[in-house]
Amino acid sequence: MGCQLIDGKKVSLEVKDALKGRMAALKEQYGRVPCLAVIIVGENPASQSYVRGKVKACEYVGMESRLVALPETVSEAELLSVVDGLNRDAAVDGVLVQLPLPAHIDEDKVINGIVPEKDVDGFHPRNVADLWLGAKCTVPCTPKGVMHLLDAYGIDPAGKLAVVIGRSNIVGKPVAKLLLDRNATVVMAHSRTKNLRELTLQADILVVAVGRAGLVTGDMVKPGAAVIDVGINRGADGKLHGDVDFDSAAAVAGYLTPVPGGVGPMTIAMLMENTVECYLGRISTCSLA
Ligand code: GUN
Repeated sequence: MGCQLIDGKKVSLEVKDALKGRMAALKEQYGRVPCLAVIIVGENPASQSYVRGKVKACEYVGMESRLVALPETVSEAELLSVVDGLNRDAAVDGVLVQLPLPAHIDEDKVINGIVPEKDVDGFHPRNVADLWLGAKCTVPCTPKGVMHLLDAYGIDPAGKLAVVIGRSNIVGKPVAKLLLDRNATVVMAHSRTKNLRELTLQADILVVAVGRAGLVTGDMVKPGAAVIDVGINRGADGKLHGDVDFDSAAAVAGYLTPVPGGVGPMTIAMLMENTVECYLGRISTCSLA
């Protein structure tokens, strides 16, 4: 049968190139390009690398970016005040606070502090509620990227059994809702799920977003299934590994995302899309300077 590799790097480049191609017209029409502000707190190397990737993607697409680097010791009040300044800054369309935050800062408070109109992550309770209600909203980047990959490879979730392993607010829950919206029958599995293998063996689409290297092995995959690996785990070898054991899964799956080069680059491409959507949303409400 053979397993088709889902090339997230290639698809993400297509998305970014399409956005890049729109920048001149947006600037011509509205006087400026979209602007994304990214806040990073502390010096977590993984966060620094993700944030660099986001700023670089803005440059590639031809959008403005603002990087705000705050020390690990910044107080919650100070961080909230920086967020508030960006909320009020008419030249900024998107505000992203890189997670995780240091333990002395309440992440929910910070996420709630971003105005929903600039919440490019789609983490604000208003966007979460609108997603679950089926209203217009900012869709979180990683789940949106997963759906874009399925579409790019002609994998239609309608009527299929989709098993999502992981129930985070960032990936598991929203991706389950998006699959449901596309008429999949969705099962959410997690660390307390019994007989995980029995479930995953039935999955036509298997999305794994747990953060445990090698959690899913080939013997857990239904022949021909589409396996989407959202995990990013740095191994003792210094290399990145997904939640799926690539070699054994590739021997069984119909489609498989590699790590790196699968979902990761899509997250950033979707962030660029979300920034443009927030910019256009703000224009439509005449609040753009
Ligand atoms: N940390 C890990 N993933 C994400 C994400 O999608 N957005 C933000 N803001 N932080 C993250």
